[in-house]
Order: sequence, then structure tokens, then C-alpha cells
Amino acid sequence: MSFIFRVPSPPFRRLAVLPLLMLLVCCGSADAQTISAGLLNFSAAGDRFACSNRDSGTVSIVSWPELKLLREIPVGHKPEGVAWLGKSNRLACCVYGDDEVVILDTDSGSIEHRIQVFDEPYGVVSNSDGSRIYVTLEYPGQVVQLDPQQGQQLQQWSAGTMPRGICISADQQRILVTEYLTAMVRELSTADGSELRTWKGASTDNLARQIVIAPGQQRAYVTHIRSRVTAAHGSGSIFPYASVIRLDGAKQGTRLRVPLDTIRGTRVTANPWDCDVSPDGRSLAVAFAGTNDLYVLKIVGDDYVELDFEASVRCGSNPRAVRYSPDGSSFLVYNALDFNVVCYNRQTGQVTGEVTVTECPLDPQILLGKQLFYTALQPMTARAWISCSSCHPDGDADGRTWQQPEGLRNTQPLGGLAWTHPLHWSADRDEVQDFEHTIRGALMGGRGLLSGGLPAAMDEAITGRSAPLDALAAYTNSHAVPLSPHARGGLSAAAIRGQQLFNSAETGCANCHSGPFYSDSQPGPVEQLAMHNVGTGNDDDTELMSPAYDTPTLLGLYRSAPYLHHGKAATLHDVLTTMNPADRHGQTSHLRSDQIDDLVEFLKSLPWEDPVPAAETAGLKQVQTARH
Ligand code: HEC
Ligand code: HEC
Repeated sequence: MSFIFRVPSPPFRRLAVLPLLMLLVCCGSADAQTISAGLLNFSAAGDRFACSNRDSGTVSIVSWPELKLLREIPVGHKPEGVAWLGKSNRLACCVYGDDEVVILDTDSGSIEHRIQVFDEPYGVVSNSDGSRIYVTLEYPGQVVQLDPQQGQQLQQWSAGTMPRGICISADQQRILVTEYLTAMVRELSTADGSELRTWKGASTDNLARQIVIAPGQQRAYVTHIRSRVTAAHGSGSIFPYASVIRLDGAKQGTRLRVPLDTIRGTRVTANPWDCDVSPDGRSLAVAFAGTNDLYVLKIVGDDYVELDFEASVRCGSNPRAVRYSPDGSSFLVYNALDFNVVCYNRQTGQVTGEVTVTECPLDPQILLGKQLFYTALQPMTARAWISCSSCHPDGDADGRTWQQPEGLRNTQPLGGLAWTHPLHWSADRDEVQDFEHTIRGALMGGRGLLSGGLPAAMDEAITGRSAPLDALAAYTNSHAVPLSPHARGGLSAAAIRGQQLFNSAETGCANCHSGPFYSDSQPGPVEQLAMHNVGTGNDDDTELMSPAYDTPTLLGLYRSAPYLHHGKAATLHDVLTTMNPADRHGQTSHLRSDQIDDLVEFLKSLPWEDPVPAAETAGLKQVQTARH
């Protein structure tokens, strides 16, 4: 039985509910709640939920169903996944930016343990009695098993490259882990971390953050995008997907990718960030952080169709999490850039409540810039496929090399950007405001942020001409470089030997990679910039620009493979050996292999301290953002 109804004028401006087509379903009981990592999760008792606030550095605890903010607990930089410990009111939270997993008592608000992990904890799940938690470390690609009572790490297992999402099977025997940049799914044993099965994605699959197992344990669902790097234009490069992972049944071991851009006619959505299965196992809710909406998909459960469109609702700005309430009567959406959680009635799609979970900690200009960076709607994009964050999520790179009109171009991470202008491998842009060309060009096709025509010349100053464009630039320039986990206590002996080689006249590396940002380029007019041909420009037939490139910063290299403008160097070793056969990129051919190892060890240690004080002391220029 199904029916169509229209909702009267919505109570909140941005939370308008679209006309809905919903199937009448009977809500199930709370016995089959799914356990999955995510930044919003309900406690086992179901009387509260927790969410982490990345920009505020806090965790909020909210009562359910009253939606009252019980407390907000500071935890550290960039908190991500939260998991309740078994049936208790204690919570584990991954503090991604501080490399810690924090164990909290949500009744008292006290922090019981801060468990140091190697780097970048992202997703966390608990076993059913709360005695063990499993955490993905995005870098260096591990799952660690922790004892939250004692505050100790017990085991450490490799889990591919950049794992993020994690969920645990009902029998506690297995965990499923997703790779962020490939959407590959791995099943690991919770006993010893051994790999039991894998479900590979397509080569274009990208940005898979979370995974959820349906009650009944037959299927798991992963949302992700597809990055088609051969088509750098706004109607064919980025697509939203849900992958159905068959755990059981006739097609077990296989995976079906469901394109979400065609599941509802021609309506386009962008950047699926999280999904959740209803407790009765009948629907999958998918939050789209680019188009600021949410789809409820019917779980068809036959091997051919799998998912079908059921309903959609509009969300606030940048929805990054969705969870069904334990009784299945509602679903809740975390809007990261409205700093709130909004509750919807599952049957009608109507908004039934809203709670502000943290005050906006961002300066108003940075907030506006961040909203523009994440949105796939006008004035940024014409057809809702793509946003800046589709390729630069949270300022990181997407691990892809795009076929641009000028040649192959590896996406750069944005850390340290304010100090490393001019922009692009070919330094053809001197200010982020020049990305008005990207916004209005073939890639995004948006209306743009500048009134009037586009400046014909790239070197014409645009700063100060549009408040929103300056806001986009201010946010884009605000990304800092993370410290390397390979040099926590300072440089290792091998890295110190590598540093000596790096600074020696023998290799000449520091001639170009100079100063605290390891680059001789400085914000200023592009014509005055020293570009260098280091012998890498002839490896690509599609290259249209000169074979000389702007010296890139070397900070953060440990996590930014692949390397070079064309992304053809898979490792740092490759940059220094196979990609430098004629010694045009520093002198390396005479080095012994242990010296190359030392040099790589040094490069992996960058930065071991914050480069900004040294840059200020050295009088380096930083891009100043215009204020309005
Ligand atoms: C389709 C993927 C994609 C999208 C969408 C995208 N970028 Fe990029 N971005 C790239 C690639 C690839 C490069 C490297 C290009 C080059 O060097 O020529 C890059 C480079 C940059 C750089 C230069 C970084 C440096 O260190 O020099 C900045 C700044 C940047 N992008 C900002 C943005 C902004 C702002 C938006 C949205 C208006 C955006 N990008 C949209 C892929 C993308
Ligand atoms: C003549 C100037 C110059 C010298 C000398 C030089 N580099 Fe570079 N380096 C560059 C340029 C330009 C690029 C970008 C080339 C490209 O992308 O094709 C680069 C790229 C790199 C990259 C890749 C960065 C990334 O993000 O992909 C690494 C690593 C690197 N250099 C390390 C070194 C080391 C180590 C040495 C000494 C052995 C060295 N460089 C010597 C100019 C130089």
C-alpha cells in the first residue's frame, strides 16, 4: 500500500520537506539495532544519543526522545566516530586530529582514558559487552583492538590503505572495514585480525566513509562516490553510489553498485556521506552532504534490484550522519554546518524536532566559505553533481589524478595553502579567488560568486571584489598541515642522515625545496616565480603546459601518495629513483639504496613541528584574506 501526500508549509526555512512518496510500513521493534561507526549513534538503552562536532572539538550527549542537550564534552581536535560501550552509558570517541581514542562517562561527563594510537583514528565500534573496541586508523591503514576499561591497545592489524568505516557482525566474530579512497570492503576476524573475505570496488570508486550491516546479517551497505577522472566536466565526473555487499545468500561474496543519481529519475544528488538501515531492515537512509538532502531507499532484497527509491527530504547544511531511532519511528540527521540534529518522522517525512548540538565555533566568513566549499548547489554548481569537497574532502586530496585540459593533474592536499601560493602544479593561479573560473567553467558550471563578467586574465586581482568569493578563499586557505606521526619524538637516526643528504650540495634538494615549507615559491606575481623543469614533464602526451612546474611543498608527503603532477610515482622511492633517471630532479643516481631509504625516512617525517613560527621568523609571505 502506498500513498502520496503533501506537507503543509515547513516549520524551518532550510528544512522544507519535499512532497513525499512513502510506503506505509509497520515499524519494527528495537531488538535489531545495527552497530556501525559514525559520528552519531544511539546508546543501547535508547534514551540518548551522542554526536561528535568536528569543528568544535566536542562530543554532545542528547536525550531521546526529548532532544535535550544533556552535555557537551570537549575531547580534542577533529573528533569523528563515536561508539557506545556495550549496554553502558560510556562512550568511545575517535579524536582524529589528536591521534587519541577518548573513553567518556556520559553520566558524569568525565574523561576516563585517553588512549594514544599511531595516527588518525576515524571509525569505532564496540563489542556487545563493551569489553573491546575496534578502531580504524586511516593512516597508516590499520585496525586496532583496544580495551576501554584499562585504556590500553591490545592488538594492531593491517587493514589496507586508508580504512575509515567499520561495523561489527551480530555474532561479534567479524568486522567489516571500508577503504576510503577505493571503497574496497574487507572482512576481518575479531580474534586475530586475519582477512576472511574482500569485496573490491570498481577502479573509479572513491570516498567511502561508513559501512552498515542490515539486521538479519545478509547485506551490508556502503555509500561512496565514483570519480571518473577521464571526464573533468560537471556532468560526467562525480557520481553518488550505494554498494550492496552480499554477506550471505545465493550471491554471497559479490557486490552490487547502485547508482543513486538515477534511482529517482533525473534528480541529481551529490556526496553521500553516511547511511543507516531501519531496525526492521526495510529501508536505507542516505545523507547527501553536497546537495543537502536525504533519500529513503526501500530495501528490496532481491539480488537484481536491491534498492528502490521511496522518499526524500531536504536537510540543513552539509548533513554528515543519519541514524534511525531505536524504535524505528524517526530518523535523525546531523547537519555539520548548521551545528544541529534534526528529527524526521519516518512515515510522513515531517520534521518533528531539532536540537542545536554545539554553538558554531567558526568565524562567520570561514563558515560561509566552508558552506560554499561543501555545497553542490547554486551558485557553485549548475547540475548538482559536484562540489569543491568532492575532490578536496576536508582539505585532503582524493588520491586521484585528473585528466584536465592542460594535462594530467594529481589533486593536491590543501594543507599550508596560505603559505604555498601560487596555486596549481603549473602555478597558473595566484589567488584562490581565481577558482571563480572553475566554478563557472566546464567542471562545475555554476552561476559563480562574482557579479559581472569573468576577468579575462588570470593575473587580474579578484580579491576584495566579492564577499562570498573571499569567504571561499579564506576557508580554502585555512587548512593546516598535520604533523607527521613518523617523527613524534623528533627525527629518527635514519631521518637525520636523510636530512643531511637533503641539505647537502651533493643532492641539491634544498636549492628548490627550501625554507620551512620546503618550497622556493612564495605568494606573489606568477611572472616572478621560478619554475623548474625536473625532467617529469615529458611522461604525458596530453601535457599542454611547459614542462616546468612550481616547486611543491614537501610537508605531509607521508600520506599524500601518489606523487608528482601526473601522479605516476606511486611511492617516494619512485620519485627519487625510477622517475629521476637523468638526475634532473636533484642528484640521486649515485646514492646507495640505504641512502635513498634515509632520504625517504626524512621526507616521511615532514613536518615534525609546526612550520608557521619558523615561517614567520623567516619573514615568509602569507596570503592575507580580505575581510568585508
Ligand atoms: C574534479 C575534482 C576537483 C574539483 C571539483 C575541485 N578541484 Fe581543486 N584541484 C583538483 C586538482 C586535480 C588539482 C590540481 C590541478 C592543477 O594543479 O592544475 C586541484 C588544485 C586545487 C588547488 C591548488 C592547490 C595547490 O597546492 O596549489 C586549490 C586551491 C583548489 N584546487 C581549490 C578548489 C576549489 C576552491 C574548488 C571548488 C570551487 C575545487 N578546487 C574543485 C581537483 C578538483
Ligand atoms: C630544480 C628544483 C628542484 C630540485 C633540485 C629538487 N626538486 Fe623536488 N620537486 C621540484 C618540482 C618542480 C617538483 C614537481 C615536479 C612534478 O610534479 O612533475 C618536485 C617534486 C618533488 C616531490 C613530489 C612532491 C609531491 O607532492 O608529489 C618530491 C617528494 C620531491 N620533489 C623531493 C625532492 C628531493 C628529495 C630532492 C633532492 C634529491 C628534490 N626534490 C630536488 C623541484 C625540485
